[in-house]
Amino acid sequence: MKPVPGSRRRSIAAVPSLAHTRRLAVHAVVACCASAALAATNAVDVGEVTFSRDIAPIVQRSCQRCHQPDSVAPMSLMTYDQVRPYARSILRRTHMGAVAGVMPPWFIERDIGIQEYKNDPSLNEEELAKIETWVKNGAPEGDPADLPPPLPLDDSSKWTIGEPDLITVLGEVTLEGDAPDWWGEIPPVPVGNTEDRYVAAVEIREVNDVLSRSGGSERKTVGGRFIFHHMIWSTVVADSEDDLRDDPQRRDSASFTSWPVHEVGRNADIFDPEAGRLLAANSTVVSNSVHLHSNGRDTTSHLEIGWKFHPKGYQPKYRRALRSFGDAVDIDIAAMEPNQQLHAYLVLPEHTKITSFEPHLHAPGARMCLEFIWGTHIETLTCSGYDHNWVLGYEYADDHEPLLPKGAILHITGFMDNSPSNRNVPDPRNWQGSGNRSVSNMFIDLGHGVALSDEQFVEEVRERRRSLDVGPNDHVLGCPLCNVIGDQTAEPAEAPAPAPPGDDDTGSGSGS
Ligand code: HEC
Repeated sequence: MKPVPGSRRRSIAAVPSLAHTRRLAVHAVVACCASAALAATNAVDVGEVTFSRDIAPIVQRSCQRCHQPDSVAPMSLMTYDQVRPYARSILRRTHMGAVAGVMPPWFIERDIGIQEYKNDPSLNEEELAKIETWVKNGAPEGDPADLPPPLPLDDSSKWTIGEPDLITVLGEVTLEGDAPDWWGEIPPVPVGNTEDRYVAAVEIREVNDVLSRSGGSERKTVGGRFIFHHMIWSTVVADSEDDLRDDPQRRDSASFTSWPVHEVGRNADIFDPEAGRLLAANSTVVSNSVHLHSNGRDTTSHLEIGWKFHPKGYQPKYRRALRSFGDAVDIDIAAMEPNQQLHAYLVLPEHTKITSFEPHLHAPGARMCLEFIWGTHIETLTCSGYDHNWVLGYEYADDHEPLLPKGAILHITGFMDNSPSNRNVPDPRNWQGSGNRSVSNMFIDLGHGVALSDEQFVEEVRERRRSLDVGPNDHVLGCPLCNVIGDQTAEPAEAPAPAPPGDDDTGSGSGS
């Protein structure tokens, strides 16, 4: 079997036997990753390692967006002198595996499912091995002449999408240190765009006065830094006051676009390049569901929305597929138990390219897996750890988005840790049920996708076969029809050879 890009490291999942994949999805990976990651890195020989030559580039790429002055992290990791005192802590926090606490915060499990994601800041085995060797050898500085040019310390380095084309600043709110959770509507704010633009990426940052106040440097956790837990929001073109209400009837009409929910610790959203979302001229940001959660001190704060546009004249090819599924009814989490499961299912109403996975749990959430079921075929697409301080979405890289036929069933499994080992749970002696507050629970996949017509689906599958150079015996994760829908545009060079006797050629239909 020829290795297919995308299933490189996946000898397990590359040919999923039904029972095997299922078992892995359900049991195997819960406690695997810390030791697996350490074991794997030992195998890589990285030679002599210095900060200037080997570690600084890693820290620049994966850490400095947060570990810079006046940013979300408690300390800067910009220079050798700043990094050196944290060497042992850095070794520990980078080698934890896909569990709460790992740095950078990114929880995709490496031993199952699709491994290619956009803007993936996580460290590969070689980088982990370099950190390990460097720390074990006493964290030497090396020759400062080897340092890469420093990252610019301007505002642009704080946006993962790069410098936004437009920034919309929302209104300021003040929440007292002892205030209860608050939900409500915020006053509408004009976006500031005077023409129709299709959006390629959007990112939201909370900007507040936590660090500039006395004692700010003690705010060492994400929970201590922010007050916006979430904002569910849309943009509307308003002719009257009435238009400024979030009216489900108008959703995703030309003058009304809903956008991915903002969450604490959330990363940016990059839309499928062929499914940019419309930001109509003179739009206004509206939200009737902002959730504020006090961080323990009086805080004044606002959100900033950074927009990246497609070039003028761009037209999207695909429509977005609505997908938000979970189970808010049957959440029943026992006290003092570490490994409890929740399940939810969704039958896809149309052919779908799944462009992202976004597990949404609350404090007891430790992990979530997404699999699909199509006939007798069951395959795990992604498993990720979960930390309610970092509510992340994972966008599949181009050529690796699952391509699933209408009727396929998506299945999410949530893994809940309501035991003393989960530091996000204030008191695990309590039973936990469903609800909106930060102290009750949710179980949802908020990921995105695009809907495909029959023709578009066939075209996408063919394109996938071509770009990954799929042969008749290859299996592509997340593309159950990649071996069935052949490349009919290729002329057969000669008449196909007859199948050898006894060889059941199930006819992949491949022209390759
Ligand atoms: C998305 C923002 C972000 C990124 C990226 C990030 N960090 Fe952090 N880091 C934080 C925050 C916030 C904290 C404090 C909360 C916590 O401890 O989890 C933290 C804490 C830490 C700590 C613990 C500090 C202590 O007191 O011992 C270490 C070590 C660390 N980070 C190292 C790294 C390294 C190394 C990288 C890159 C490989 C990295 N971080 C990437 C935000 C980030």
